[in-house]
Amino acid sequence: MGRKFFVGGNWKCNGTTEEVKKIVATLNDGKVPSQDVVEVVVSPPFVFLPLVQSLLRPDFHVAAQNCWVKKGGAFTGEVSAEILVNLGIPWVVVGHSERRALLGESNEFVGDKVAYALSQGLKVIACVGETLEQREAGSTVDIVAAQTRAIAERISDWENVVIAYEPVWAIGTGKVATPSQAQEVHFELRKWLKENVSAEVSESTRIIYGGSVNGANSKELAGQLDLDGFLVGGASLKPEFVDIINSAT
Ligand code: G3P
Repeated sequence: MGRKFFVGGNWKCNGTTEEVKKIVATLNDGKVPSQDVVEVVVSPPFVFLPLVQSLLRPDFHVAAQNCWVKKGGAFTGEVSAEILVNLGIPWVVVGHSERRALLGESNEFVGDKVAYALSQGLKVIACVGETLEQREAGSTVDIVAAQTRAIAERISDWENVVIAYEPVWAIGTGKVATPSQAQEVHFELRKWLKENVSAEVSESTRIIYGGSVNGANSKELAGQLDLDGFLVGGASLKPEFVDIINSAT
């Protein structure tokens, strides 16, 4: 396959200056595989991005947790892709389920955001995932396919895209998807890419899992054929994030 393992840490809306410095110090001391084996990206709140970028070890990188959908301007409170690029921030998370749910970000809006971020030179972690109701209704594959389609219809170059499959029912709940549940959806996503984009994109695009990943369950999840890494929330704020990085296969 040749897909480099990818571990993202989504710090969400957490941290003080002191806590951020402590987390970075722990990461800087962590013994992890080389960049050739695993790509590590941490995503602090916007206001801590320059600080984290300045203190973080050079083999780890940073991501913003979001960006605006078009060129900056009179959009109070938003942070544009251009501003992130100007700060030297290489990655951005787009379409997290918490933003889709709380702020009503539609598939099309997320697709536009992915396209614009890529157009400005950012690399994108694009999040997809179904709710518990959608899973119980048997709609999981339809939902994540529709979310992915809205991205695929707007971009042509997938080189700088990582897809994060994050079942909403596993986020922050402690109810991690079983390895077979995760593998099943990752397989379907990769199949969708092959059938609707190209065999090359399907083969090369990293599809990572997020939702209650921790140091105890990451190794077994990492062993799944179509799972190329993680997007970690709560556990990325703890020293066990280094253990999760070491689950890289
Ligand atoms: O973006 C990752 C996040 O949604 C997963 O959160 O706390 O379940 O690892 P958590």
